Amino acid sequence: MQIHSSISDTRAALKNRQRIVFVPTMGNLHEGHIALMRQAHAHGDTVVASIFVNRLQFGPNEDFDKYPRTFADDCEKLREAGVAVLFAPTEADLYPEPQQYLVDPPDIQNLLEGEFRPGHFRGVATVVLKLFNIVQPQVAILGKKDYQQLMILRNMTRQLALPVEIVGGETVRAEDGLALSSRNGYLTPDERNEAPRLNRELRRIRDAIRAGDRDYTRLEREAIAELDGHGWKTDYVAVRRQADLLAPSGGDEALVVLAASRLGTPRLIDNVEI
Ligand code: PAF
Repeated sequence: MQIHSSISDTRAALKNRQRIVFVPTMGNLHEGHIALMRQAHAHGDTVVASIFVNRLQFGPNEDFDKYPRTFADDCEKLREAGVAVLFAPTEADLYPEPQQYLVDPPDIQNLLEGEFRPGHFRGVATVVLKLFNIVQPQVAILGKKDYQQLMILRNMTRQLALPVEIVGGETVRAEDGLALSSRNGYLTPDERNEAPRLNRELRRIRDAIRAGDRDYTRLEREAIAELDGHGWKTDYVAVRRQADLLAPSGGDEALVVLAASRLGTPRLIDNVEI
């Protein structure tokens, strides 16, 4: 695996490559990321990953400095997963001057995650557009665990006519249902035992809706009460339309139930498609 930190070296390394499939990450890789790398091989010839902890997408009270950096381990995992080129820039490589040109997604950036993390999706969209410009992939794989991120990046790619196909990767879960996440590492053993409740509540809502229950507000309220009654601090549990993450209109539409809740220090997110 070639590892490059500068934009020019990365461009040179990718110059004559056939069909590039790109998986952007912030490192601290787990089985969920590696599943995306494996999936990438089915979509092209050259799998490229990036590792960059993007300051622009962290709020002032978020964990940018504490975000786990495990570069040597990550490289080992990427090598095993058959990644051909890793782009791992420093901040000086990617943002040699203050990034003043920003991608400002439309209102969808202010819903759900956006309500609790103002500016987050502007930072994500900006860095991903920049990474796409550097790597110039034909395909990019993004995990469904960050459902709103996937949707915003898909919309950005379509509206800006970027020649990149966006593919969603399924969420990888521990046996007890907990979605794999870098933030799970912050859970104490007791919290780790409690953590699968988030996914259980989402599946409970999914099953109720499948069984014909349409009182979404009650279902959301019950899930929040159940979580908070077990020590969680829930930001939202929301039944939304898959198409645009707005509230269901009552028609026959594909839905997704999304949640974010804090258990001790870490804030966990998850979603289940219906
Ligand atoms: O999902 C992530 O890890 C990040 O938001 C991404 C897409 C790599 C942009 O920094």
